[in-house]
Amino acid sequence: MAEFTLKLRRFDPESGEAAYWDHHTIDLEPHLSVLEGILQARARFDGSIGIRCSCRAAICGSCGVRINGQPALACHTHLEQAMKGARDGVIEVEPMGNMPVLKDLIVDMDAVHWSKIRRVTPWLINKEPIPEREYIVPHEAMVDVTQSMACIQCGACVSDCLSMEVDPLFIGPAALAKAYRFVGDPRDAQHTERLNDLAQDPHGLFDCTHCFKCIEACPKGVAPMSQIMRLRR
Ligand code: SF4
Ligand code: SF4
Ligand code: FES
Repeated sequence: MAEFTLKLRRFDPESGEAAYWDHHTIDLEPHLSVLEGILQARARFDGSIGIRCSCRAAICGSCGVRINGQPALACHTHLEQAMKGARDGVIEVEPMGNMPVLKDLIVDMDAVHWSKIRRVTPWLINKEPIPEREYIVPHEAMVDVTQSMACIQCGACVSDCLSMEVDPLFIGPAALAKAYRFVGDPRDAQHTERLNDLAQDPHGLFDCTHCFKCIEACPKGVAPMSQIMRLRR
């Protein structure tokens, strides 16, 4: 066991009070996650700490936060790893950026992230006629979209996208990566229409400034900027 000090950003919009920092010292094995630390602080010291989580295994994408200023999954960041980036030996945890804070470490994913995912029609519009049996898809074609399929919708890339800071209407890295998942799928009937739509939208394809932030932020190797470059080709 080892002691770690967590510095948590607290904010309750309904209280009418400004955001503030809260410190808690927790006691856990260093290989356990920052999420486990937050949950221990909530269980031992303050049951009102707001954090969203579910799988605790980097699968559901619900525990996105900023740790020491960098976007990360709280359940996928070991305490000992977080200590390496800690200032004055304190692990700082705050909500993700570019999305409104609902409470403490919980942001409103629907207001920004999910509305943009819906914007790109995130489902297959199949070609006609529908084959009697399954579609036969070339192996290389599916390999091409596999990277974008790895997305767990955590919002870490959205949190750090510099273009979204300047233009909140920018469709953004996660939604454009999702768009490529269908543009690159040979079974989709709307390949050209999807590309024209994204290219003509003033907040679409060409709003990305190639800052690489989304590539650095993504815990699943989706590399959204690379998917955007593929859409542009
Ligand atoms: S590379 Fe483009 S999409 Fe990715 S974070 Fe930067 S501006 Fe946003
Ligand atoms: S692309 Fe990566 S960082 Fe962005 S939402 Fe998907 S998994 Fe998260
Ligand atoms: S709790 Fe599911 S990804 Fe962290």
